[in-house]
Amino acid sequence: MTTVSGSTPVAVPGRRGGPDVMTLRQDRWWVQPLVIFSVLFAFVVYVTWAAFQNKNYYVGAAMHRDLLSPLYSPCIANSCVPGASHHVQLSWWNFSPALLILFIPGGFRLTCYYYRRSYYRAFWWSPPACGVADHHSKYTGETRFPLILQNSHRYFFYLAFLVNIVLTYDAILAFSMPGAGGIGVSVGTIVLVVNAVLLWTYTLSCHACRHLCGGSVRSFSKHPIRQRLWKFLTPLNAKHMQIAWVSLIFVAITDVYVRLVASGAITDYKLF
Ligand code: FES
Repeated sequence: MTTVSGSTPVAVPGRRGGPDVMTLRQDRWWVQPLVIFSVLFAFVVYVTWAAFQNKNYYVGAAMHRDLLSPLYSPCIANSCVPGASHHVQLSWWNFSPALLILFIPGGFRLTCYYYRRSYYRAFWWSPPACGVADHHSKYTGETRFPLILQNSHRYFFYLAFLVNIVLTYDAILAFSMPGAGGIGVSVGTIVLVVNAVLLWTYTLSCHACRHLCGGSVRSFSKHPIRQRLWKFLTPLNAKHMQIAWVSLIFVAITDVYVRLVASGAITDYKLF
């Protein structure tokens, strides 16, 4: 209980390091962190499983397709199956190709400003929600190890940008149907194209991207191109949270789809 001279005593809803009262909120504030925890946990478990499979990540000419899972792209390991390789092969890497490259999208998402907010709340309860007490005794921010590494986000942005170019190339290749007319559109083509578009949208809506285009500018009138870019990116940036979730889930859907086709569990229907 806190009192200020001449005013009504008020109950402070908890304090850092062992709240007396966790929160005065009466609503279901715990729903959002619970959902975020569940989805992120399920995604990490699935991607880890898929990355260690080292099979069924590519649908090749034997099935008249050219579909590569985004979890294994760019495929630059010595162990890449024929047809999946992106022309650069690291001869010293014989494990799953996904384990070689997943640090890029993983690091990009892990250091993302939005995901940071989400998993700090859902996993560390720091704090779990607005108006709910923090469950840690100290707060050191992101100024020391390990959280100071979050400042690497802009570098992951550059790497993710390059990966997106490769995924766009994969999406274009998904139109090829070797031995079945040469070119066409299948469900897999659409899945890979949508995945690439969503990942571009996620990357371009990044705060680091917006800052790169419009930040540190004293006068937009002297930088009309940067102003146009900034104006284009700002509404996307406002939707970054929604885009982050949709693109995350669709990456998993894309991998599941390619995996099911590659394993023969389903057929990739040609639409035209
Ligand atoms: S802030 Fe989310 S990807 Fe950069």
